[in-house]
Amino acid sequence: MKAKKLTGEKAAEYIEAGMIIGLGTGSTAYYAIKKVGEMVRNGLKVKAVPTSKETAKLAAEEGIELVELAEVNSLDLTIDGADEVDPQFNLIKGGGGALLREKIVASATEKLIIVVDESKLVEHLGAFPLPVEITPFSWKYTQRMIEKFSCSSEIRKENGEIFITDNDNYILDCNFGKIKDPVKLTVELNKLPGVVENGIFAEMAEIVVVGYNDGHIEVLEK
Ligand code: 5RP
Repeated sequence: MKAKKLTGEKAAEYIEAGMIIGLGTGSTAYYAIKKVGEMVRNGLKVKAVPTSKETAKLAAEEGIELVELAEVNSLDLTIDGADEVDPQFNLIKGGGGALLREKIVASATEKLIIVVDESKLVEHLGAFPLPVEITPFSWKYTQRMIEKFSCSSEIRKENGEIFITDNDNYILDCNFGKIKDPVKLTVELNKLPGVVENGIFAEMAEIVVVGYNDGHIEVLEK
């Protein structure tokens, strides 16, 4: 909790007046959003693109001006969390189910800042099951196609029901084990019919802010 708060707040220091920023989703991005809210109430002028309905609600409650991605050409920076970060800054995201909008916003962003606590740092991606957003239409067919990549997978559920993303899709949580080539896997997965997007964010992050439980933070730059 403390580590997440520290890292979220540290990342907010990169925001400057007049910027268009992306706001991530999850319990670490939460603290960055709360900090941006405080900065806005103290006079900071920014516009923000949220990466989920949940984030849009929180940001609006914080008084942050929201814009649609379609209204802006690009974003100056985005602050988002991650489920795993490897030494090359490749990420697994989507534990919170917002990976599609998160990846679109990240790709439209000049500088992607990732905020994590130390538990998210890994040598290789893959211990955390890779979330893959798929279309509900014939999802079992898509699941079989994905499982040809030697992985097992489970359809994500919430309260016993299939989890529905903000884009009305489903999520498959896929156990690949150690992911040796994240760049290759993300390309291969996205070629499959029915796959909307996958949670590997390869070569996208510029800065990773890591919060440690003893209260210190580390800023890693590419
Ligand atoms: C949501 C995400 C989150 O950023 C990721 O799951 C990390 O969340 P948290 O900071 O709560 O651990 O990708 O889709």
